[in-house]
Amino acid sequence: MRSFRFTHAITRKPAKSILQGLRAVDTGNPDLARMQSHHADYVTVLRETGAAVIELDPLEAFPDSVFVEDTALCLPEGAIIMRPGAPSRLGEAAEMEPHLRALYQDVRRIDGPESFIEGGDILVTETEILVGRSARTNAGGVAELIRKVADWPLAVREVHTPPGVLHFKTDCSLLDGETILSTKRLHASGCFNGYRVIHTAEGEEASANAIRFNDLVLMASGFDRTRDALLNAGFDVREIGNSECAKLDGGMSCLSLRFTPKAA
Ligand code: GLY
Repeated sequence: MRSFRFTHAITRKPAKSILQGLRAVDTGNPDLARMQSHHADYVTVLRETGAAVIELDPLEAFPDSVFVEDTALCLPEGAIIMRPGAPSRLGEAAEMEPHLRALYQDVRRIDGPESFIEGGDILVTETEILVGRSARTNAGGVAELIRKVADWPLAVREVHTPPGVLHFKTDCSLLDGETILSTKRLHASGCFNGYRVIHTAEGEEASANAIRFNDLVLMASGFDRTRDALLNAGFDVREIGNSECAKLDGGMSCLSLRFTPKAA
């Protein structure tokens, strides 16, 4: 199950500059100490599965750099360095590249200059790579990704991120080889035909950004009806505080790169 069994994860500790992090709506600044505590809980749960978790130091020059997922797409065959569409985040990708080169033989790069793509817009399943166009991921980015993975086994399928939603995976997550957790608004677009879909509960759309990591599903705490739906479906759920990342439109997937590299 290459889509959710992983030997490694990379995270980056939140920087003090997180107070300047991007946000669609200003609901107040995140509390750094509380975010650090939630982040530590997140790393502990990843490690609970037996995976090696590499915790990178904070990067003060990049306020959103705790959200490492946007910097790369990591597949068993190799890693592709992304090209974030938010100007303040573009440099985060180069900061991640050496860490992936230390673990992967094959590292490729989205070159641009007009292509933009962020990892938060990419959902990898057992059989395909879904990429949602968004305010951060454009047609050039999708086209370049299609070319970069052409000699690897999974093909790219372009889908659409709902209007006003930051990333495709803001609204969905992979739960197992054939099951997706999705908001009703995203499922209505038809992009998950052929998959089993579990909906987030009404009013709990912010719980859609979860991760399946080995035997566990990590989800933001505070969404009891969606949690119970996942428990009833047989998933082993761990709830992690996400109040501070949520102020910056961040969630469970944003906080890590998850992968099983071919040895470097
Ligand atoms: N604050 C996360 C982002 O906008 O990318």
